[in-house]
Amino acid sequence: MTSVAYLNGEFLPLDEACVPVLDRGFLLGDGVYEVIPVYHGCLFRLQAHLERLEYSLHETRIANPHDRGTWQAILEDLVRRNGGGDRSVYLQITRGVAARDHAFPADTPPTVFAMSHPLPAPDPRIAREGVAAVTLEDIRWARCDIKTISLLGNVLLRQAAIDRGAQEAILVRDGEVTEGAASNVFIVDEEGHLLTPPKGPRLLPGITRDLVLELAEAHAIPHHERPFSEAALGRAREIWLTSSTKEILPVTRLNGEPVGDGRPGPLWRRMNDIYQAFKAALAP
Ligand code: PDD
Repeated sequence: MTSVAYLNGEFLPLDEACVPVLDRGFLLGDGVYEVIPVYHGCLFRLQAHLERLEYSLHETRIANPHDRGTWQAILEDLVRRNGGGDRSVYLQITRGVAARDHAFPADTPPTVFAMSHPLPAPDPRIAREGVAAVTLEDIRWARCDIKTISLLGNVLLRQAAIDRGAQEAILVRDGEVTEGAASNVFIVDEEGHLLTPPKGPRLLPGITRDLVLELAEAHAIPHHERPFSEAALGRAREIWLTSSTKEILPVTRLNGEPVGDGRPGPLWRRMNDIYQAFKAALAP
């Protein structure tokens, strides 16, 4: 059975949802998006996702078609119509349909699209084995803080990682680690401190990243938002990747070499337990 999607005010089967070829999302990648996890039928950290969406719309000067209450009602309805449970919601807003021209069209309503898919529980092999990552030069643009649908750089980088037998690319710009192709990066340094690069135009302000920092603070785990080099990444005791769909992934191989003893580290186990308990506590 096809899932239910939302398009410009209507709910309909996903495989019947169509946008005109003149949509600026299709022609120009002119749009923004969010991916929001849902646990037990509840949208997780929804206000943070809506705040980031407002930021992306503001920075791209796309008119925000809805207030927060309306966004919440639409997305909750979408989740309900798809049967609740554990899933992800994808929400995309483009600058709308207009004759192709780089300049903004006048009086064009944005296109609003949302869909939802089941979110499988993390593969238990990850807790035993972790994942592999490679470092790559960050070839993306200079506004990675905007969650834009223009993802060609991210797509090429993720595929380059896969072609090298890894799950994710860890990106490096001017010698400093920025983030993953579709994730934020944490390390546990030689002193046992948790580090993640500070927010700014070089990386997406991840919602999972913020939650990990919040949980580190609440559990007195030493943590800093501080730049670190590719060399520091190579010396790290642990490396983690965070995202809304993958939660916290332990990286156990970097560029073919083991990270620490080559198994998910003790601080990852602790933080992952804290994270899972935090999710479970939200169950209705
Ligand atoms: N991507 N950095 C990039 C470039 C990302 O694409 C993502 C998430 C993150 C993590 O952000 P968050 O914790 O808010 O999910 C960081 C989503 C999941 C995607 O594109 O599918």
